[in-house]
Amino acid sequence: MAIINKPTPVMEEIVLDPSKTIMSKTNPKGTIEYANDYFMEISGYDEHELIGQPHNAIRHPDMPKVLFKWLWERLQKKENIHALVKNLAKDGRYYWVITDFEVKTDGKEVIHSFFARRKCPPRSAIKTISDLYKKLLAIEKAQGVEVSEKYFIGFLEERNQTYDEFIEEICLFEKQRSLDLKDLQYHKRKGLFVRMFK
Ligand SMILES: Cc1cc2nc3c(=O)[nH]c(=O)nc-3n(C[C@H](O)[C@H](O)[C@H](O)COP(=O)(O)O)c2cc1C
Repeated sequence: MAIINKPTPVMEEIVLDPSKTIMSKTNPKGTIEYANDYFMEISGYDEHELIGQPHNAIRHPDMPKVLFKWLWERLQKKENIHALVKNLAKDGRYYWVITDFEVKTDGKEVIHSFFARRKCPPRSAIKTISDLYKKLLAIEKAQGVEVSEKYFIGFLEERNQTYDEFIEEICLFEKQRSLDLKDLQYHKRKGLFVRMFK
């Protein structure tokens, strides 16, 4: 099967419709088995071009490697994870997503598939995360991924946060400011996507 030729990135953003979800399903190796219509619309690919391809087909070169290293380590441990990702469309434009990754097992220990549901992240979260990813990428290019990982760990340690806590904080920053204490306590018991989009 032909591998997708990577487009040259252009500095133009595709802004997502906040009411819609981009969804894909992969096998345990990350090969795309299903993608919904909104995935096709935003990425610019047709089903026959994408299905059967590795998911790095839409990887944007501005994304640091360490992020995907952590993503795969978590998925292999069967842990669901949220991540902020910049993706590359077929015409070279980019789009930011907050992604909810879900691991499906056969009911026992064996991973059956992975699901990714992506939505439009808040603008303030994009600003914060792109500043961090730029630093990680620059370190990676100069020193390699092991060194960028150390920086990433130090960055989170300074905040006394896990990656998930950091993502939650920057994605919910604006929403939580508008909640009173009682609503906030209720809100904190829900999953990130429910808290962001319901
Ligand atoms: C369910 C699922 C969804 C993924 N979605 C994306 C995505 O939207 N964008 C992306 O760049 N990588 C995505 N990945 C990660 C890719 O498999 C890959 O690790 C990443 O693009 C980095 O490419 P590389 O491993 O060749 O460096 C996804 C992986 C899985 C399992």
